[in-house]
Amino acid sequence: MSRVHNFSAGPAALPLEVLDIIKSDIPDWNGTGMSVMEISHRSKPFIELTERCEANLRELLAIPDNYSVLWIQGGATMQMAMAPLNLTQPTDIADYVVTGSWGKKAAGEAARQCNANVIADASDKNFTYIPDEPDWQRSENARYLHITSNETIAGVEFHSLPGGDVPIVADMSSSILSRPIDVKDYGVIYAGAQKNIGPAGITLVIVRNDLLEPARDGLPHLMMWKSYAESDSMTNTPPTFAWYVADLVFQDLQNKGGMPAIAEINRLKSQKLYAAIDSSDFYSNSVRPDCRSRMNVPFALADSALDGKFLTESAAADLTNLKGHRSVGGMRASIYNAVSEEAVDTLIDFMNEFERRNG
Ligand SMILES: Cc1ncc(COP(=O)(O)O)c(C=O)c1O
Repeated sequence: MSRVHNFSAGPAALPLEVLDIIKSDIPDWNGTGMSVMEISHRSKPFIELTERCEANLRELLAIPDNYSVLWIQGGATMQMAMAPLNLTQPTDIADYVVTGSWGKKAAGEAARQCNANVIADASDKNFTYIPDEPDWQRSENARYLHITSNETIAGVEFHSLPGGDVPIVADMSSSILSRPIDVKDYGVIYAGAQKNIGPAGITLVIVRNDLLEPARDGLPHLMMWKSYAESDSMTNTPPTFAWYVADLVFQDLQNKGGMPAIAEINRLKSQKLYAAIDSSDFYSNSVRPDCRSRMNVPFALADSALDGKFLTESAAADLTNLKGHRSVGGMRASIYNAVSEEAVDTLIDFMNEFERRNG
């Protein structure tokens, strides 16, 4: 077997320990004589799986009892619509801080459902910073404030939370479970699974219970958070395989020491990589240092004519998926939980060596 160091932004690397369990589970899961893909979502073993999955997640993130954990299909993109649909009436205002492409997309989706007010927008500097909070043009009667905790493409992350009494709705797709958070600071957290949770196809939504009642009538059941809360996320057939993998990933995170231990490794990994970039004139990262992402590290080569060579040679060295997003160019190393410190060290060694040969 040969495994590469996978720096994909998503769908992203999964822990090898989890892949090994999946491999051995497939023909006969949990003594059922079936794979988990072939069993009813309402069967006892599957219900036990979902209960364990939620209990582990609640422990990992210290989710308070007055928050519901929901599992929904449609990706984070569907939550960009479900948030305004559930939290506003069409004439209501919702404030959006746009620090990258995903926040821009969320504001655009919300504008179809309510008055989405972009109160701060970092596109003037190519999404390389978070505008200072005192400069935000906050609305007086906003129903919520939307942020993108970590912008996967730009590599910009909030390291402290905005103030105010308005519920914060956070797209945490690319930073969930990378470090401890205080869930009670948020009204709603949503995250597509395909970075730190598991395979694409399932989306985690954590909603404070007083926000579950939809603000408008007539929503389809599948677009109402409340119906997922009332049906244990079985409003219709859930993506059982993705849910099963999420359960394994949470057990793996618990085995590895939970959020404090994971956060420390993530801090180390990102610190090393930024230090390597900053110490060289050959590589650069243009994000303001206080808002740099710990999960997605974009970097440019001083001579972009070398980009193709860098990508070919890195792939040949089993360092894959380093091409930057087309809107940014250059390179991007996504270093989610399942990307080991050793993988980051190998990347840094490769970068140093490439610089020596081409600098
Ligand atoms: C921060 C962020 N938000 C939203 C999305 C879109 O997620 P999905 O494809 O699950 O709808 C992504 C996808 O990579 C993302 O990184």
